[in-house]
Amino acid sequence: MAESIRRMLGRETAGGEGVVRGWLRTVRHGKGVSFLDVSDGSCMDGMQVVANPDTEGYEDVVRQLSTGCSVEARGAVVESPGKGQRFEFHATVVELVGEAGEDYPLQKKRHSFEFLRTIAHLRPRTNTIGAVLRVRNAASMAIHEFFQQEDFFYLHTPIVTASDAEGAGEMFRVTTLPIGDPPRDEKGAIDDAQDFFGRPTFLTVSGQLEAEIGALALSRVYSFGPTFRAENSNTARHLAEFWMVEPEAAFYDLNDLADLSERFLKFVFAKVLDRCEDDMAFFAKRIESEAINRMNTVIEKPFERIPYREAVSILEASGEPFEFPVGFGLDLQSEHERWLTEKHAGCPVIVTDWPKDIKAFYMYQNDDEQTVAAMDVLVGGVGEIIGGSQREHRLDVLESTIRGQGLEPDDYWWYLDLRRYGSVPHAGFGLGFERIVQFMTGMANIRDVIPFPRTPGQADF
Ligand code: 4AD
Ligand code: MG
Repeated sequence: MAESIRRMLGRETAGGEGVVRGWLRTVRHGKGVSFLDVSDGSCMDGMQVVANPDTEGYEDVVRQLSTGCSVEARGAVVESPGKGQRFEFHATVVELVGEAGEDYPLQKKRHSFEFLRTIAHLRPRTNTIGAVLRVRNAASMAIHEFFQQEDFFYLHTPIVTASDAEGAGEMFRVTTLPIGDPPRDEKGAIDDAQDFFGRPTFLTVSGQLEAEIGALALSRVYSFGPTFRAENSNTARHLAEFWMVEPEAAFYDLNDLADLSERFLKFVFAKVLDRCEDDMAFFAKRIESEAINRMNTVIEKPFERIPYREAVSILEASGEPFEFPVGFGLDLQSEHERWLTEKHAGCPVIVTDWPKDIKAFYMYQNDDEQTVAAMDVLVGGVGEIIGGSQREHRLDVLESTIRGQGLEPDDYWWYLDLRRYGSVPHAGFGLGFERIVQFMTGMANIRDVIPFPRTPGQADF
């Protein structure tokens, strides 16, 4: 196997043979010499491969190469006289592996992100999307590392489910019934009993309910998987398919949970800054000049915790001309979230104790009977990145909330059973993985931080 370009560029010293395999980002032909910028995606930098008439295949191969071709070069790693790179690669042989042609869609010029979305099969080869994918990888590994060292077990929660974990009815139906001619019962209604699972099923909106099962057995668990929402919101922060990280811990209250979220974000951001230095430098230079600074703010500053009531008073007193109204019982909009964290606090803000009427059925009801022990973590640029709560572990209160929200207790029988058999206080949150990738990279649109975005009207690739 060829050594990756990342490893080759990281060698202690020049000298020694090697093989470079990858795709041509650019090629420059001079008089009797050609410079090939070869990238294999292993790092931001490509390897500068230098070829001349002594290189085998120079006339037939090298001089015919164009952007986008894949090549294999054999030769030696040498000190580079050029600026901006330690090493370059002097090729003794260059072979064309796959040609690209004049119509290769990724030319040297800067393409818009909108255009790149239409060629999502090729965009990972661009600097920006390549860096996004490496940051996603590093962040994913850091997430696992964090929870493992905190004694949380990775629990695989299901993707196909019969229950609406958020009670919000934003689920995609999963069915094998023929759409045009489904079987009917005596009353003429679609006979769900004949569907694959013998009942209506959906793609999950959250692994939380099953994570609670795990927490009430293993004490601390987390899930990290694809999550689906059929909400028709065409915003720069919403996807129909995204990845959610959901820790759930027994004997945790809201305060413990807020502490966990803070340790978690600090850990993950520090690891990404450490492991993706070049990629992060690229984002700071080309995408968002504050990208690294604001990650450092999260790492260094304690988060501010503000009860929802107080947050509303602060917003009301701000004198800001917000587009959306503010008041007890109204959800915070992105403009309010961003103002609180960017202008008011200057650090991440955890808004706690929300009105129960705008939150999900499973949240722990506070003694005031008006609010629930919920929290949202807000950061600059993006707004809400985490939503979580202490869970209602009292059977009678939970049953009455389920009814009160127009849901059917029977549909949640096993969830209620957890409150019948050895119920304990517990809490958990959900982190939108793409939202933190947006925050870290400064990418404006969430569609550009996931390799294959699914949004209303869009499921290509
Ligand atoms: O606030 P949400 O809806 O919370 C839950 O689903 C809880 N069941 C999680 C839990 O307590 N285990 O979603 C959690 C996070 C949000 O803060 C947001 O970052 C992200 O998931 N999120 C989305 N990200 C991208 N596209 C969407 N459509 C999203 N909806 C939520
Ligand atoms: Mg939320």
